Amino acid sequence: MVAPHPIDLANEYFEFYPDEVSPLWSDPARDPNLKELWRVNKTLPVFPKVLIAGPQKTGTTALMTFLLLHPNLVTSKPDPSLYEEVQFFSSNLYDNGIDWYASRFPEKKNDQTVLFEKSANYFSHHRTPQRVKELMPDAKIIIIMNNPSRRAYSWYQHLKAHNDSLVQQYTFYQIITADDQAPETLKIAHKRHLHDGIYAVHLSRWLLHFPKEQLYLVDGEKLIQDPVSVMNDVQKFIGVTPKIDYKTKIQFDTEKGFFCAKTTGCLGSGKGRSYEKMDKASEAYLREFYKHHNEDLKTLLDSIEHPHPLWLQQTENSQA
Ligand code: A3P
Repeated sequence: MVAPHPIDLANEYFEFYPDEVSPLWSDPARDPNLKELWRVNKTLPVFPKVLIAGPQKTGTTALMTFLLLHPNLVTSKPDPSLYEEVQFFSSNLYDNGIDWYASRFPEKKNDQTVLFEKSANYFSHHRTPQRVKELMPDAKIIIIMNNPSRRAYSWYQHLKAHNDSLVQQYTFYQIITADDQAPETLKIAHKRHLHDGIYAVHLSRWLLHFPKEQLYLVDGEKLIQDPVSVMNDVQKFIGVTPKIDYKTKIQFDTEKGFFCAKTTGCLGSGKGRSYEKMDKASEAYLREFYKHHNEDLKTLLDSIEHPHPLWLQQTENSQA
């Protein structure tokens, strides 16, 4: 009898187990079987301990930049082939495997060095929490949530500043109110603006895989208003030493209108943009759109005994 070709066998196997088409990487240092298979003369890969998971336009760059003011917090190496972020868990780069991921990071300077990574689309990517849990079960995850209406509008302004053709064609109101009858591109834009702000759905997914103690929820509005106390708390959550007082590291810049690092200055022109206020119709539409999602978030936060951020309390008081 002729043995079946391995490719045919594999195809047949994956027909039965479609969930396994994409691998799920785990850490060889934690798995005795994998460790045995690891080549003797090859050092085990080291992964980051902390992830800033996003979502986009909530202040992820500010948080990352402020973390880097700590001498023992180190992030991924700059890589011109990547657009600012590694996005390993949320893209096809996951197929590159764990060696590729580990090689994105510089070597630790000493035992006190804590490696972290910021990829703002991890938060809402449906497979990311499970993938992170499998590879880095002890990871500490930082999530920033601000008013989702503000987040959506910031994303629109981001596209506008990049002369995105869609934004030249449609107003913010047209994008956020697009329905099932809208052209496909408009429907995609609608989702890209609003989906990340449905925080309760994404946060529940993380909570399926991680205990609440490993998730740190930052109030994005507080990060703007009072980053010193936010950063002092974040470093406690990370557990990095020595503890620094961020009062000595960041200060308000009147020209920028935001807090900036004393040494490295303010974030670039793409962060903390000035633009016109959101129009009243869009504001009202988004308030209504996010109303029940924000209610769900309150319920979820109550279930994990987490206080409501100020912006969420304010949505409680505003009239829909
Ligand atoms: P805007 O530019 O719309 O104001 P991200 O880095 O996740 O893309 O988020 C960008 C947002 O970070 C900015 O949106 C701004 O509101 C917010 N932000 C928070 N702290 C900031 C700071 N210190 N400097 C600049 N932007 C900051």
